[in-house]
Amino acid sequence: MARFSTPREVFFFLTHPRFWFRRHLRLEEMLDDPLKQFHKWYEQIERSSLLEFPNGMCLSTLGQDGYPQGRMVLMKECDAAGVVFYTNSNSQKGQALEHHPRASATFYWGAFQRQVRFQGDIERLSGSESDAYFMSRPRRSQLGAWASAQSERIDSRESLEKRVAELEREYADKPIPRPPYWNGYRIKPRSVEFWQLGLNRLHDRIRYVRSPEGDWKKERLSP
Ligand SMILES: Cc1cc2nc3c(=O)[nH]c(=O)nc-3n(C[C@H](O)[C@H](O)[C@H](O)COP(=O)(O)O)c2cc1C
Repeated sequence: MARFSTPREVFFFLTHPRFWFRRHLRLEEMLDDPLKQFHKWYEQIERSSLLEFPNGMCLSTLGQDGYPQGRMVLMKECDAAGVVFYTNSNSQKGQALEHHPRASATFYWGAFQRQVRFQGDIERLSGSESDAYFMSRPRRSQLGAWASAQSERIDSRESLEKRVAELEREYADKPIPRPPYWNGYRIKPRSVEFWQLGLNRLHDRIRYVRSPEGDWKKERLSP
């Protein structure tokens, strides 16, 4: 039963009908496999069409200077092995992952007041896997991948657009191959945490941790 302490909380509750029937997260109802649990939430969120980028996640890496670095990337796949995204391996994040092949990815679905955090080791996808995804992209995006030396300083926007125009001429009527520096990466999770907003700051947090044998153990954390 919901208990309110301020008029703002009453307003919040009444204006968010999807909370009316929402229950607290119960440890025993969370699926044993966090990737399956993630899919369950993700499908619900994607189906709602309330978010422009439900697959947007903040990817955090560790820079060689020892400082953490966060930025948004798009999840392109999530299967039993982990969460996949694509990027330029020469970029800041690409270099960070080369030196510290570990990362965290955090999804926040504001309209649902839910967050999921993955943490794990990174593996690069094979060339053929990255090729397959690159080939599925629109031509303009493929050209963009060639034109952009991601995270490098450039003189102007015009120089970037000029480079795209040159590439357009170069590849006219030809398939555009994947740049060798454009790759897919998979975060193989060692822990996954699900968070759901609760009233009066009493949020639900359920964390899964993978044992060395590969089984998942779940536990409730204090908000
Ligand atoms: C919603 C959103 C999705 C993005 N998706 C990607 C992506 O999938 N891959 C990518 O390389 N950059 C993506 N970006 C751009 C990155 O946030 C970032 O600017 C870029 O990758 C350079 O990061 P870096 O210098 O830390 O390597 C996205 C940005 C936003 C806001």
